Amino acid sequence: MEKMLIEGGRPLKGTVKVAGAKNAALPAIAACLLTGGWHCINHVPKLKDIQTIKSIMTKMGVVFQEGDGVLKINSDEIKEYVAPYDLVRTMRASILLLGPLLARLGRANISMPGGCAIGARPVDLHLKALSAMGVEMFLDKGYINAKVEHLKGADIFFDIPTVTGTENIMMAAVRAKGQTVLRNSAKEPEVSNLAQMLRSMGACIEGDGTDTVVIEGVQGLRPAQDHTLIPDRIESGTFMIASTITGGEILIDGGRHDHLASVIEKLQSAGTQIEKREQGLFVRGPEAIQSVDIETMPFPGFPTDLQAQFMALMCVAKGSSVIRETVFENRFIHVSELKRMGADITIHGNQAMVRGKDHLLAAPVMATDLRASASLILAGLVARGGTTEVRRIYHLDRGYEALEKKFQNLGANIRREKA
Ligand code: EPZ
Repeated sequence: MEKMLIEGGRPLKGTVKVAGAKNAALPAIAACLLTGGWHCINHVPKLKDIQTIKSIMTKMGVVFQEGDGVLKINSDEIKEYVAPYDLVRTMRASILLLGPLLARLGRANISMPGGCAIGARPVDLHLKALSAMGVEMFLDKGYINAKVEHLKGADIFFDIPTVTGTENIMMAAVRAKGQTVLRNSAKEPEVSNLAQMLRSMGACIEGDGTDTVVIEGVQGLRPAQDHTLIPDRIESGTFMIASTITGGEILIDGGRHDHLASVIEKLQSAGTQIEKREQGLFVRGPEAIQSVDIETMPFPGFPTDLQAQFMALMCVAKGSSVIRETVFENRFIHVSELKRMGADITIHGNQAMVRGKDHLLAAPVMATDLRASASLILAGLVARGGTTEVRRIYHLDRGYEALEKKFQNLGANIRREKA
């Protein structure tokens, strides 16, 4: 296991280039199952989760050719349609293989993704939508055993705007017979990025980015020749918070204002100066950080994937803030670790009351999930009194590409060590 060692107290300065979005890469790679030929995806981040989905698809017979940030994928020969438990349990987004496999083969055998640290993470909405499209499914030894003669279009209402649910059903629908309407669908930029890729493959999709997506099934599809992933808005937001918490000045190359409006608004209320630039977003941290209340919401609201990072910021803000997590039922695990660093936080149900303090104290802490790890590193960047050790940073490597190198280039005193 590895850990990150951080000496706090340095304002971060410089430029950081944002990687391609993890949550745009995963559905895009899964979509290459929809048709044979060579697909090409640009701006693919080097992440553990990308390795995981590649391992699962390689076992199915898919061929990958990796270049510098470019991934070529060929699914001419799909020999099997199983996504094994030992891989799926490390990455729940493997459920995204279900829709494309059913569209291509009419068969899929995907391990039911377990829950994870942040919540039960059910996939009932995915399965309900697929059965409305004619899929027969039964659970066998923890695997979703699914088959269908030919998917048929359906009018589907999602009880909750599920991101991967919308993506999964979009991929199932592109080759279904007739029209599929997704109502109360997720509007995240990653959903639109996937729709853009599917249209480049010949799919007929409208309304992505709104709460109603309409897909007309088509006979055949062609491989995506040159699909480019959007920049990772959660990585951008993490660096915006890093600049704020350290009182630094960072140019976020690839930061997109249209993907981060809610985050920009909250950081400006905290005193941060944010300017749109040709390359992206210029972020200057304030002398004193003002406390701000946030409530996580589906896009375009404040993203749940930045809640933990924003909480670290509020721990050293002036005054108190209320942080309400409405998307996942257990996404405050980072709280007890932040309290080990002297943070003053009390939890009431899905709300955390954060009383800002003058500073945090360096301490050994434990990462528990991907975004909590980033939150602890941000806290370490400003903690006093020695070295903050963040352990179990394999969580971090799932979603951030070479994070410590990017922070080192911005002047942080941070290094990775074998624990
Ligand atoms: C996606 O997860 C992201 N992952 C998550 O990012 C992100 O936190 C989440 O969307 C919310 O924005 C990927 O895109 C790979 P949901 P997803 O389905 O699709 C409930 C990260 O750190 N729900 O939008 O799994 C669910 O429990 C990860 O990069 C059901 O009840 O999230 C949650 O409360 C973490 N039944 C809410 O909906 C279902 O069938 C939103 O979940 C599906 C979801």
